[in-house]
Amino acid sequence: MNKTTNQMLVIFGASGDLTARKLVPALYNLYKANQLPENFVVLGVSRSNMTDGEFRRKVVLESKFLEEKKKGESLDFINSLAEKFFYEDLGADYNLEYSKLATRISDLNNKYRTDHNYIFYLSTPPSLYEVIAKNLSDQELNNEEKGWKRIVVEKPFGYSLGTAKELNRGLQKYFKESQIYRIDHYLGKETVQNLLVTRFSNSIFEPLWNRNYISHIEITNAESGGVEKRGGYYDTSGALRDMFQNHLMQIVSLIVMEPPIDASALEIRNEKVKALKSLRIMRDEETLFKNTIRAQYLASEIDGETVKGYREEEGVNPESKTETYAAIKFFVDNWRWKDVPFYVRTAKRMPTKVTEVVVHFKSPHHQVFKDSDMGNKDNKLIIRIQPDEGILLKFGVKVPGQGFKVEQTHLDFSYSDLGETVVMEAYERLLLDAMQGDATLYARADEVEAAWDFVDPILDYWENGKDVNIYGYSAGVWGPSNADDLLEGDFKWRNPTESLVDNPGFCVIK
Ligand code: BG6
Repeated sequence: MNKTTNQMLVIFGASGDLTARKLVPALYNLYKANQLPENFVVLGVSRSNMTDGEFRRKVVLESKFLEEKKKGESLDFINSLAEKFFYEDLGADYNLEYSKLATRISDLNNKYRTDHNYIFYLSTPPSLYEVIAKNLSDQELNNEEKGWKRIVVEKPFGYSLGTAKELNRGLQKYFKESQIYRIDHYLGKETVQNLLVTRFSNSIFEPLWNRNYISHIEITNAESGGVEKRGGYYDTSGALRDMFQNHLMQIVSLIVMEPPIDASALEIRNEKVKALKSLRIMRDEETLFKNTIRAQYLASEIDGETVKGYREEEGVNPESKTETYAAIKFFVDNWRWKDVPFYVRTAKRMPTKVTEVVVHFKSPHHQVFKDSDMGNKDNKLIIRIQPDEGILLKFGVKVPGQGFKVEQTHLDFSYSDLGETVVMEAYERLLLDAMQGDATLYARADEVEAAWDFVDPILDYWENGKDVNIYGYSAGVWGPSNADDLLEGDFKWRNPTESLVDNPGFCVIK
């Protein structure tokens, strides 16, 4: 059943890449799945001068991002979607013509009966978030007497703990926290949401999900691409701000958190905040030195092609110390996780694109099968966030024949097994949730600040600490070799390109 109420989606920064690449394809899917409300319009707003028709052509009718989706679709269907799109330009600094914008919104609302329900989606540089919020408030476009009003903001949310707090305070001057939706597109991923379900809908994992049975947690987020055309932005950001503070901290919070009372936004977010607050903040230089590594990719040859080093990329300072690789070891100071190391790494220009969580279980206390040479083959739960989304549990079985030789095999689930079931794309899910007023998959102010609390001292150390090295790694390898120095015992970073299965063909139990 379609639960979405009539509404208008006002996108600021509508001529930018995100609108055409992510938001409109998400709207397309929602329209096709009959999930958009009966009365619905999109008003694009940005600095460029465009007519409604030009905007429709740019983001719907001639958009390369819809080419695949439009195949086999009738022209009537595409046109009926395009007709929902309108455009208004707002002057060079987004500060001039809000009364004109308010009139346009009101006219569209009256004509298309969107019931005064508005989402303001800010896909602009973060420096404009507060300016836009203030101007909307001046026009009483935050007022919920008639219809609801919501404001969605994109990442990056802040540049540091201080700036994130300032931004929160700035937005909260004009909109209530319950009206603010902070996007983290990783929360829109089905596999990330499934972390909650794997943990809390089964009775077999949760009893083991603690320091008694888990030796360590390993999270890898790798991209094969470099910074592409975003060198200018990336050089002021780096891997820690770009990926770790938001996407990876979200994954960490879902692994660490205690069971919520129920699946409501309030309870889930309360537990996530508690989890983030329990991360042990590293403050002194010695601890930071031992537990953090940053690096940059160097020029290299991949499959016979030369790829540039980070410092040669367009928009990047040739003497830049911005990290494209970050590996962090940390602990969680609470009852459940005491002394369990967490290893998290994120990087560009790795051998492949992959994000996975590996829960490494401890070896059995007493080895009965002494000759089995289990080596580094303790039980593992591998949660593949992307690609090849799925879950795999590794465990030992007896090799048929004499004696008790043990080999590892696995139980697995792959999303591709679901056949026809359509898995929603991240932006599609997040947009639909915002339209329906469900903030579960959006980050709350205290959540964002708790993540920054942990990350801020690392950034400060990397930027201002004495003689902090930045290592090099060749594009196309798994980071600098000294990332192994972070690791305890004989554990090695998992190579995610290795087959998920140690013995393919030996014994696959479905
Ligand atoms: C974005 C980062 O938030 O996430 C990008 O700014 C990164 O640098 C992207 O490439 C990765 O997202 P995904 O969904 O492809 O893993």
